[in-house]
Amino acid sequence: MHGHFPPSSRVRELEYAIREIAALARELERKGRRVIYLNIGDPPRYGFSPPPILRRALAEAIEEGYNFYAPSEGLEEFRQAIAERERRTNGVEMEAEDVIVTQGVSEAISFIMAAMLEEGDEVLLPSPCYPVYVNYVRLHGGIPRFYRIVEEGGEWKIRLENSPISPRTKIVVIINPHNPTGALLSREELASLIDAAREVGACIVSDEIYDRIVFEGDFYSTATLSDDVPVIGLNGFSKSYMVTGWRIGYMYFSDPEGRLTEVKEAIVKLARNRLSASTPAQKALAEVIRSGESFIEDLKREFKRRRDLLLDLMGEVEGAVLTAPRATFYAYPRLTVKGDWGDDLGFAKKLLMEEGVAVVHGTGFYDYRRDRFRLVFLPPPDVLGEAVEKIRAFIKRHASQAQ
Ligand SMILES: Cc1ncc(COP(=O)(O)O)c(C=O)c1O
Repeated sequence: MHGHFPPSSRVRELEYAIREIAALARELERKGRRVIYLNIGDPPRYGFSPPPILRRALAEAIEEGYNFYAPSEGLEEFRQAIAERERRTNGVEMEAEDVIVTQGVSEAISFIMAAMLEEGDEVLLPSPCYPVYVNYVRLHGGIPRFYRIVEEGGEWKIRLENSPISPRTKIVVIINPHNPTGALLSREELASLIDAAREVGACIVSDEIYDRIVFEGDFYSTATLSDDVPVIGLNGFSKSYMVTGWRIGYMYFSDPEGRLTEVKEAIVKLARNRLSASTPAQKALAEVIRSGESFIEDLKREFKRRRDLLLDLMGEVEGAVLTAPRATFYAYPRLTVKGDWGDDLGFAKKLLMEEGVAVVHGTGFYDYRRDRFRLVFLPPPDVLGEAVEKIRAFIKRHASQAQ
């Protein structure tokens, strides 16, 4: 008689709160309840489709025979198109050979942590943080540490004072624009992160997957601001091309002194083990990048319309304040009242059970203030209006005292 197989202790520790709330929501739906999903940053789930030019290009790529394994680093013409795109839209000096194509930014994060971390190495992350970073750091034996992103005078600001950065810090992670707050980091803030990394000899990983979804202010790509500190830039097509399910992203190395040369080789070695990212998807995206990406402007206008509506609607909600997201499609309100929901997780669960509205609690993003939640403003205006009204009524019904 043999025993059951327990999962490895490394994996037992992992959490992914965004998807856990979704599982609870699906269970409710199975029981016949209607659920308004405000919990997942997945535009195609809310009726957004990839532009027709891209859908056609994918069909053509398949017809033309792009059905083989691509090189592990990515199709050459796609890497070239990506380098051109980064030069044109973000001013990053780079060539095709600096690019490695990945199965989404998620895979790039996993490759980097696998290739760089030894047991006990520290990685400085923003708090709140996109949770995949924390999981991959832990999976590869690293220790996540956090700097804060806080509200100050109606703006999101990073706080580096008293951050746990030290010579043990191997990587400083920047997420700009930022999930879950919608913050857009200023040039000065990026410079201060670069300075902090330089001081302790760390490199920077800069996740810029929302770079094209900016409503106000200027976006700066971290690599353009660093002369010496090596930067691995991450970007992808899931969000601004509305192809989350195609699983295509990329990383590029901006490393003037060649300090990451061996890490890059190690990442290529990892990439070879999974053979290739989707070849027809790479071919199709290469065609469309070269066409100028004009569809993104229309998309952004629509996202902004919904963001503005959400700001108006949230203004009417007593017991929650929202610092305006200047980018992305996320909003991250703070509860200003206590209620019989308990903490933020209690709030998210009770709101889901009673009102059928799915949001994600702040602790799901490693935010230990326990009074925030994230919602996406991707649904159409009438649904967004209905959802916020349910949130308003819920807070009113359950609030106990002012904080
Ligand atoms: C900051 C950030 N990075 C990466 C990802 C994952 O992107 P991909 O679909 O390219 O794996 C997301 C998805 O929500 C994200 O918010």
